[in-house]
Amino acid sequence: MKKTLFAILVALSLVGCGNQQKPTEVKCSQRHHTKSLVLYYSQTHVTEKVAKLFAEATSADLDSIVPVEPYNGSFTETIERCQKEMEKNEKPQLIKPMNVDVAEYDTVYLGYPIWFGVAARPVEAWFMRFDLRGKTVIPFCTFGSGGLETSVAALRRMAPSVNILDGFGIRSVRIDKAEEEINEFLIRSGIKPGTVEEIPPFGMKRSLNDEEKAIFDAACGDYIFPLGTPVLVSSRTVKNGTEYCYVTDCKDQDGKPARSEVYVIVSNEEGVGPEFTKVVR
Ligand SMILES: Cc1cc2nc3c(=O)[nH]c(=O)nc-3n(C[C@H](O)[C@H](O)[C@H](O)COP(=O)(O)O)c2cc1C
Repeated sequence: MKKTLFAILVALSLVGCGNQQKPTEVKCSQRHHTKSLVLYYSQTHVTEKVAKLFAEATSADLDSIVPVEPYNGSFTETIERCQKEMEKNEKPQLIKPMNVDVAEYDTVYLGYPIWFGVAARPVEAWFMRFDLRGKTVIPFCTFGSGGLETSVAALRRMAPSVNILDGFGIRSVRIDKAEEEINEFLIRSGIKPGTVEEIPPFGMKRSLNDEEKAIFDAACGDYIFPLGTPVLVSSRTVKNGTEYCYVTDCKDQDGKPARSEVYVIVSNEEGVGPEFTKVVR
């Protein structure tokens, strides 16, 4: 069982790069004036915290997706239940009616934990049932290691004609940074007025030196699942430190050799160690 869990999580945990630094004033788009809903599912309340922050920052209405048979087991029990459902190609069936009429909203901030590299099953089930054409969907998610990009790609495959933005994601262990990062995300997306640093692109990928290897180990060494062996690195200066993108040799879900990108921030602040922010598989 352990092996299966490991394989699933290693294979499916994901994340994304970001390219963005230099103060830049971002003008607000029309989206700021539209009617917005923050709709989320959260099993263990991490995504719920992020949802509340989005609702507060955007003055949007807030509602949640509630499966009639709640996923209230332990992590392992939830994995097992999902595996059974996936084998039978079953989605959680009876999502309770929500308190709001989604049709009334132009913009839906859709929040979910990453499960198996994609949006948690109740959210996928909901997403498949609603016609969101003509609306803007802004996904946001929380995860153990990553999954924003793959989950957004999966939503786009499900609804190619819906306008789905790239969205926002954060590791659950970094939840204390969520408020600041959401604010920055909203400004960069043109949803909220404000000034943010322009972020330069990463430099050339190159072999790592001993210091860079030590940074990787310090940031990632205690993560519960292996993130692979770093073989290349690139870096860039960000507002409060240096961000590294490590290319690692790892295994895919079938145990075949694969590559992933692991992102680490080294803050200029004294006493703050290197922080693993996401992995993109
Ligand atoms: C069934 C299940 C599958 C998961 N799969 C992944 C995964 O593929 N990648 C990942 O980074 N985290 C994964 N996680 C971790 C959750 O995404 C993470 O703990 C999330 O922040 C929980 O949010 P919540 O408190 O809102 O439920 C999984 C958790 C569960 C229960």
